[in-house]
Amino acid sequence: MEAIKSIDDIRKRVKSLKQDGKTIGFVPTMGALHEGHLSLFRLAQKHADEVIASIYVNPEQFAPDEDFEEYPRELEDDLVKCREEGISAVFAPSDDIMYTGRQFLSIEVDELNKYMDGGSRPGFFEGILLIVNKLFNIIEPDIAVFGQKDIQQFRILQQMVKEFNHDVELVMGPIKRANDGLALSSRNAYLDAEQRKLAPGLYRSLQYVGKQIKDGATNIQLLLEHQKNELEAKGFKIDYLNLFSFNTMAPVKNTEDNNKYILAGAVYLGETRLIDNCIIEK
Ligand code: PAF
Repeated sequence: MEAIKSIDDIRKRVKSLKQDGKTIGFVPTMGALHEGHLSLFRLAQKHADEVIASIYVNPEQFAPDEDFEEYPRELEDDLVKCREEGISAVFAPSDDIMYTGRQFLSIEVDELNKYMDGGSRPGFFEGILLIVNKLFNIIEPDIAVFGQKDIQQFRILQQMVKEFNHDVELVMGPIKRANDGLALSSRNAYLDAEQRKLAPGLYRSLQYVGKQIKDGATNIQLLLEHQKNELEAKGFKIDYLNLFSFNTMAPVKNTEDNNKYILAGAVYLGETRLIDNCIIEK
């Protein structure tokens, strides 16, 4: 399987699939594909006749001090996986194709990026919206699948689709985990053996607090403080560990019935940033 590099060529491919009456599912990725991505491909295949993947490490969503240079790039291996999964085409453009010259326009996000990853990574979601907006305009898929692990990304993209009238249905793929509970992520490759052993601790904390909330606990802040202390004692550096409203992505102190919440955390083990979350529906 060959990667399609040009916008014209991927458009032609999509057009011919659509002319054959096929519906198009789309899974945008930054490559270094693991079981988590493959589960998104499989989910997309349930919702559409043909699935197109993109592989592009988007420079606009990395701050200057982040891991853009180190981010794993494994295109040849990724293409093998895409072929094995029955992906119909892979769009893997270069930077000069995605960003031709100076960009005069940008997309701003309000409120929804104030906390969680948006709070810690200024410009992150603006960069994601920019690239996904471009990709949606190029591929024009019927459905697009994004993982729950990046739940704030999903929520903000939902808003983009609504406000910018993209004719696409977003589908959220559940988090794929290793046997010990660690959420699969391309960045897990940065962990050394000791950090890898510790890493599922984040999920265990989220699970513990999530269960308490479902069982009716009201002292959520105290529970979270306790888990933060425990994680710190084990060697994690906490970026955030909190309960957020799914709608507003803002922290909440407590839950109310008939609402949807995200119990989410971001931590560092050494230089590696790990994120994870559980959805809580009341
Ligand atoms: O979730 C990701 O891998 C990226 O943020 C995405 C959606 C491919 C945009 O670069």
